[in-house]
Order: sequence, then structure tokens, then C-alpha cells
Amino acid sequence: MAENETVKGLAARRRLGASGVMVSPVIFGAWAIGGWMWGGTDVQDAIAAIHASIDAGVNTIDTAAIYGMGASEEIVAKAIEGRRDQVVLATKCGMRWNSEEGTDPWPNKTPDGQQVVVRKNSRPESIAYECEQSLKRLKTDVIDLFQIHWPDVSTPVQESIHAMEKLRQQGKIRAIGVSNYDVMWLEAATNAGAVASLQPPYSLITRKIEKDLLPWCRDHNLGVIVYSPLERGLLAGTVGPERVFPEGDHRAKHKYFTVDNRNRVLSALETVRPIAEKHGASLAQVAINWTIHQPGITAALVGARNAEQASHNAGALAFALTAEERAVIRAAFDPVSAAMGGT
Ligand SMILES: NC(=O)c1ccc[n+]([C@@H]2O[C@H](COP(=O)([O-])OP(=O)(O)OC[C@H]3O[C@@H](n4cnc5c(N)ncnc54)[C@H](OP(=O)(O)O)[C@@H]3O)[C@@H](O)[C@H]2O)c1
Repeated sequence: MAENETVKGLAARRRLGASGVMVSPVIFGAWAIGGWMWGGTDVQDAIAAIHASIDAGVNTIDTAAIYGMGASEEIVAKAIEGRRDQVVLATKCGMRWNSEEGTDPWPNKTPDGQQVVVRKNSRPESIAYECEQSLKRLKTDVIDLFQIHWPDVSTPVQESIHAMEKLRQQGKIRAIGVSNYDVMWLEAATNAGAVASLQPPYSLITRKIEKDLLPWCRDHNLGVIVYSPLERGLLAGTVGPERVFPEGDHRAKHKYFTVDNRNRVLSALETVRPIAEKHGASLAQVAINWTIHQPGITAALVGARNAEQASHNAGALAFALTAEERAVIRAAFDPVSAAMGGT
């Protein structure tokens, strides 16, 4: 059991850094349900997925303003109507589609087909504006974890964190998080204010954070909530060489989804299969369970498109892999991670 974990199994909660925010080790990731970059959404399925997740013991939902340009936050608000007190709400700012200011212009489309340019923008006035917008879309008085989505090289990080601190003092957010920051950015951010958590990518395949970031976060008591633990479905074993992704689904062009890589993953999953069967679990549940039991990991953000996937993913909390099984699984994916550029 992690040292900051209160109970085992489906009711487990872990403290996010030094904050008062307690999250479930499996968090519902609400990117795919916003439709943007995932080939569209079905709102009823999305709401059912969130309900199934909460019913199965998940207490935290992670969304972002940019997920569907507001659509994901609005779906989350509908899903938690009347259940706000059961949910820890995490969202993100700093990716603007409706402002001329910011860096890294990225031509894009809103879910209803409008042409927009997405820019990274963590300027203090933008953070304050975005917080108000997210509070409205989420239909809440307070955001439990407000995270800066990506580093904005045009804004001194101290200024961004001071703006986040101001929101915390105003009672509009409970904890501050950052995402996709490296150690240098984290050092500056944590010197400027009470940052509770980092949100980086991590999975059996994508392990770069093990080198510097994870040890740094452990040493500095920062919560680490990792994204894409299923590697966008690959580790669930449901992406065979023949699967075709619909238009608008970013996986069609993602470097991890070449036929060679799909076959590499499927072959390594054959080592995982008997371990999964022994626990009465699926490959997806084993991949999630492995992730949330790595040292320094507070929680894994798992995306799900429907109720079946959502309750299934929450079931990853219901069993425990042995240390030996975790080592066997890691070893099976060592060459896969290296070949795919994840190490
Ligand atoms: N901060 C950031 O920059 C950032 C970046 C990426 C993600 N995130 C966060 O992390 C969350 C999770 O990441 P992710 O959505 O990229 O990847 P993920 O959780 O690794 O994969 C989710 C996808 O896997 C498939 N899947 C899920 N459960 C399954 C199951 N039980 N069986 C079979 N397939 C299953 C679904 O796609 P199909 O059914 O369509 O195959 C689902 O959309 C996001 O929702 C978001 O909150 C943050």
C-alpha cells in the first residue's frame, strides 16, 4: 500500500502532495468524451461512463477547457449534477482557442467545425479569465485541482503560479497543479507557490519520467497523476493490426500506432495474459494496476468512452499484483518501450 493511501481496494484514497485533496488511485480522464481528437463523442455514453465510474468507487474526474473547447467540461457538469459532493473535480487552463495571445500557434477545429488557432497561454490575466469560464461550464463554486496544461515559454512561470495562488486565496480553487512540466519548470513553479501535483504521461511503454521527474517529485512531496496509462487503448489489447480509426481520431497518425508497434505490444501482452487470468482481471486492468503501484505514482488518469469501459477500469483497484508479477510485466515491456522511444 502506498504510504499516503487510506484504505485498500475500491475505496482507496491518496493525498495529492501536501494539499488536502484526496483522490482515488484511478481517476476518470475526460479527454476522449469531449470528442476532440478522438473522432467525436456520444454525450449519453459519456454521461453513463462518468456515472459508472463514480458508482464503482472513482472519486476524481480530470478534464480541461481545451477538451472539445469546453465540451468535456460541460458534459462533466451534466454528469455530476446532484453529485458534486461525491466528486473531486480537476481541470486545466493554459491552452486557449479563443485568444490571439500566446505561443506555439496550432491550427485546429472546434467540435462544431469552426477553424481556430490553439495557443499556449499561461499569462496571469488569461488564467483568471479561464478559471471563471471553467467554473461556469462546470457549474461549480470551486475547482478542486486547477492545473496549467503545458508550459508557456512566453510567460515567466512565477507569474503564472502567483495567479494560481491568487485564485486559491480567493477560494475559487483548492489546489494547484501543473502538467507536462520538466524538472527545471517544476523547480521554478514550486518555489513560487504551493504546487500540489504534476500530470505527466506514464505507462508500461512511456517511462521517461522514471529517470528524473518521478524521483524529484518523490523528494519534494509532489503528487503525480499520470496520463494515458493504457497508451490510448494499446495496452488493453484491443488495437490489432487491422483496426482502422475514424476520421478525427488522432490515433490514426500517432507514432505508437504503426502496425509494427501494435504487433510489438500485442506480443508482450501475451506475457501479461496468464498473470491477468490468475487474478480474474483483464489486460487493461493489469496495465492500470501496474501503473498505480509504481513508487511515487499517486493516481492514473484513465479515459473511457462508455459505462462498460469505465466500470471495468475502476475494477483495476480490486486486486493486487505481487512485486514479482510487476517485475515480470515490466521486463516483458522493456524492449517494447525501448523500440517505441518511450524510455
Ligand atoms: N495533460 C495532458 O497533456 C494529457 C494528455 C493526454 C491525456 N490526459 C488525461 O489523461 C486521460 C487518459 O488518457 P488517454 O485518454 O489519452 O489515454 P488512455 O486512458 O490510455 O486510453 C483511453 C482509451 O483507451 C480505450 N479504453 C479505455 N478503457 C478500455 C478498456 N477497458 N478496454 C478497452 N479499451 C479501453 C478507449 O478508447 P477506444 O475504446 O476508442 O479504443 C479510451 O478512450 C485523459 O482523458 C486526460 O484526462 C492529459
